[in-house]
Amino acid sequence: MKRGLILNNAYYETPATLYQSERLKEELLKLGVKTDVKKNDFFAAEIENGAVKGVNGYDFCIFLDKDKYAARALESAGLRLFNRREAIELCDDKALTFLALAGSGIPAPKTLPGLLCYSPEAEFQTKTAEYIAKTLGFPLIVKESYGSLGKFVYKADDMPSLIKICKELKCRPHLFQKFVSESAGKDIRAIVIGGKTVAAMKRTSNGDFRSNIGLGGKGEPYNADGELTALCEKTAALLNLDYCGIDVLFGKDGYLLCEVNSNAFFGGIESATGVNVAKAYAEHILKSIN
Ligand SMILES: Nc1ncnc2c1ncn2[C@@H]1O[C@H](COP(=O)(O)OP(=O)(O)O)[C@@H](O)[C@H]1O
Ligand SMILES: [Mg+2]
Repeated sequence: MKRGLILNNAYYETPATLYQSERLKEELLKLGVKTDVKKNDFFAAEIENGAVKGVNGYDFCIFLDKDKYAARALESAGLRLFNRREAIELCDDKALTFLALAGSGIPAPKTLPGLLCYSPEAEFQTKTAEYIAKTLGFPLIVKESYGSLGKFVYKADDMPSLIKICKELKCRPHLFQKFVSESAGKDIRAIVIGGKTVAAMKRTSNGDFRSNIGLGGKGEPYNADGELTALCEKTAALLNLDYCGIDVLFGKDGYLLCEVNSNAFFGGIESATGVNVAKAYAEHILKSIN
C-alpha cells in the first residue's frame, strides 16, 4: 500500500488549511492510499556533513507549506513533492512567476518587478516613481511579491499614493502592474490538475477592486472556454505544476494572467462549482507515483 505525507506550515493553521488536508486524506483513502497529516515543525532541513535529514517511509508528500528550505530538503532526500519544490518557489514570488513566464506568449498585464532595497535608511527616489507612472499610467497596481488572499495588493491612484506605497514597501520585494480596468472587482479562478482545467469560477467583489473570496468576493461557476483553458493549461505546464489555482483577469482583448497559486485553497471553488477538486488531485497523485 502506498503511503503519503500531507505537510502543513508549522505556524499557520486555519479552518481552510485543515479542510484542505482532511479532504485530500479522505479522497486518497478511497483510492487505497494512507496519509499522515503533519505540521512542518520537525526540521526536515537539518543538515550534517552535507546530508539532509528529510523523512522516511513515504512514497510522496503533498506539500501544503511554502517553506522552500524544507521542500528542498525533502526533495533532495528523494521524496516526490506535490507540487514540486521549484514550482512552489516560482509561484510563491509573484515577480518570479512573471519572469519565469516571460517570452512564452502567455498574455498578462505589463509588469515591472520593483527595485530591491537592502537598507531602510536609503532614500526612495522620485524619479523611480515617475518612471513607473510613465510606464503604467494611473491608477496602477502594486503587489508585494509574497502575499495571498488579496491582503498585499494595493492600488495607487496618483503620484502621492504611489510614492507613499513605494516608501512603505521599499525593503520588501514587490512589483508594479498595469491596472486592468475592465476587470475591476471581478476575475476568474481556475483549478488545473495534471495539465487539465478541472474547475473555474467567476469571482465578483462587493465594491473592492480585488475579488478574493477572503475579502468578501462571491464565486459562481464559470464556463471555461478554449481561450481560458489554453491560457491556464499552458501556464501550469510551463511552471511544471501538478496542481494550481490560476487567477485570470478580463482584459479588453481577452483573458490576461493575474497570478498563479501553487497552494490554492479549493474549499471555495468546490462549493461554488460542485466539482470534487480533492478527488481529481488524489487521482492525479496516484497516477503520477505508480
Ligand atoms: N493588474 C490588475 N488589474 C486589475 N485587478 C487586479 C490586478 N491584479 C490583481 N487584481 C485584483 O486583485 C486580486 C488580488 O490579486 P492577486 O495578484 O491575485 O493577489 P493575491 O495573491 O493576494 O490573491 C485579484 O484577484 C484581482 O481581483
Ligand atoms: Mg489571487
